[in-house]
Amino acid sequence: MTHKIAVIGGDGIGPEVTAEALKVVLATGVDIDTTDFDLGGERYLRTGEVLPDDDLERLRGFDAILGGAVGTPEVPPGVLERGLLLKMRFALDLYINLRPFKSGPNRHNDGVDFFVVRENTEGSYAGEGGLLRSGTPNEIATQGSVNTRMGVERCIRFAFDLAASRERKHLTLVHKTNVLTFAGDLWQRTFDAVAVDYPAVGTAYNHVDAACIYFVQDPQRYDVIVTYNIFVDILTDLGGAIAGGIGRAASANLNPARTGPSFFEPVHGSAPDIAGQGKADPRAAITSAAMMLEFLGESEAAARVHAVVDASDDISGSTTAIGTAIAERV
Ligand code: IPM
Ligand code: MN
Repeated sequence: MTHKIAVIGGDGIGPEVTAEALKVVLATGVDIDTTDFDLGGERYLRTGEVLPDDDLERLRGFDAILGGAVGTPEVPPGVLERGLLLKMRFALDLYINLRPFKSGPNRHNDGVDFFVVRENTEGSYAGEGGLLRSGTPNEIATQGSVNTRMGVERCIRFAFDLAASRERKHLTLVHKTNVLTFAGDLWQRTFDAVAVDYPAVGTAYNHVDAACIYFVQDPQRYDVIVTYNIFVDILTDLGGAIAGGIGRAASANLNPARTGPSFFEPVHGSAPDIAGQGKADPRAAITSAAMMLEFLGESEAAARVHAVVDASDDISGSTTAIGTAIAERV
């Protein structure tokens, strides 16, 4: 079976790491048919377009989307984030953002092995708010947070399912229920209600500020974490830093209901400072591609790639050298 993959190499190191991810996918023997999409900062600077509706409609026809990174220093903040990445998350209903963190025997924080499950379509990312009397001494900015029972519940259920499938069977809710009392209350009550359906899964709760301490001092305590959109954004950069560096941090923007394609991309950005120098670690992109294989039902190939990446600490060198060595072992 051939999987139709849309590829958004993007900007900076994006195309470099994506090429290595595709090299590794090819090495698994899984049959894919790729189509390149010219999206990102370069296209925006050239044409003023971010994600035109016809590109979005074409993307819907693929089995999955593999991304590198988008962003160039010349594009103002928010244009690509809101216009491309978040537009895809909302329009394709990519309601889960799954981020794995794993460290190996010879690395810092040996024994770290956890997933963070991000609610990916609501919270402060939903874009509720606005500017009033902008640019005047009386200006007002509001930035709301949207939390629906449906959105929170489908995310928490996904996290419980994931925890139930793992050896440790443990799920931690992270929030800030002591201050975000409205959203926190909805999250906590939903978590408690869903937990009843998963008696085999042990649970815990951490405030997000305390979770930052545990990430640094005792990250091995975590198995699966579920939380609010923006908390994950912040926590997972920290997760990358404590589990092998951001060059290892992969992510999957999933539509588990499969009403459209899911989108797989490394957490790191386009890193324009090192673009074109072959310095980028392609492992985050390779692991994201393995998550794509898994989601496409190619579990055996996905497991092979994960195992090779997990045991790849002896491989170093340029972006291409690392990608080639991993592809050979796969
Ligand atoms: C991430 C990124 C994005 C986010 C940006 C680029 C929109 O930082 O995936 O972590 O904030 O979600
Ligand atoms: Mn981020």
